[in-house]
Amino acid sequence: MAAAPSNPPASSRPARPASPPERANPPAAARFGPIERFAEIDSTNRYLLDAAVAGRRSAGAVAVADRQTAGRGRLGRTWTAPPGGSLLVSVLLGAPANPNERHLLTLSAGIAAAEAVTTLTDGHVAPRLKWPNDLVVDDRKLAGVLAESVGGHVVVGMGLNIDWPGVPDELIGIATALNLAGAVPPPTRDSVLDLWLDRWHGWLAVAEAPAGPERVVAAATRLSATIGSSVRVELASERFEGLAERITDAGHLVVVTDAGPREVSAGDVVHLRPRSAGGLPDSHG
Ligand code: BTN
Repeated sequence: MAAAPSNPPASSRPARPASPPERANPPAAARFGPIERFAEIDSTNRYLLDAAVAGRRSAGAVAVADRQTAGRGRLGRTWTAPPGGSLLVSVLLGAPANPNERHLLTLSAGIAAAEAVTTLTDGHVAPRLKWPNDLVVDDRKLAGVLAESVGGHVVVGMGLNIDWPGVPDELIGIATALNLAGAVPPPTRDSVLDLWLDRWHGWLAVAEAPAGPERVVAAATRLSATIGSSVRVELASERFEGLAERITDAGHLVVVTDAGPREVSAGDVVHLRPRSAGGLPDSHG
């Protein structure tokens, strides 16, 4: 497909009120890099994990691809996207000091992506978070985040759909892209990458600070399309329905069922009825 059209640089757009955590010094460039770009690769997550294990890349390395031939999704699924139409990116991170806080890496990545998209589209597309790691617009998937680890190395990958010629038949009603959701022209992949890394850097600094887990979870809750919604939880062995009540500081989803609250650490969630208008505030941050 055609390359994504260019947009004016983000810096020339009107500033939107955002929810930036305190900006850490030095800037994101000090945490992330180098950025390697591939026209085609099997999987940017696979690439960075292998490179880390071989000692060829260290924490902060970023890999971006126009196209993946074996993109990896959650729960062993594959991840497909029209060539050149999505930001396909992975970032190598050091393992968090507390292994129980790995969910903060993915939650903060999602928060940062939602903020970056909302800012770059001047609010025309304001994604919400779907537990555990998706960005959705009108309940259609805009992006997915996947963390994988080998040894002490953690890679967080994100596929964020930016400029699609249309929704492939098998994804109709399920997925969307920024151009299809109303951002015309959509921001460039590079502008989304830059702002995402910038915002993520800020949120990682929050996560690492005192009370960080609570603050990250609170931000994810405010942006959540799941919390307050009636949901069906689909696990490998069972399905059940209830009201998605909250995200715990461990990143688990608490769903209130007729039989009482259930805490879910991994699985798929289907939104059955969105939360009521009187639910959580819509503000970001
Ligand atoms: C999901 O299942 O929702 C997560 C999808 C994550 C896809 C991204 S694309 C870039 C990175 N490389 C991969 O192989 N997967 C992730």
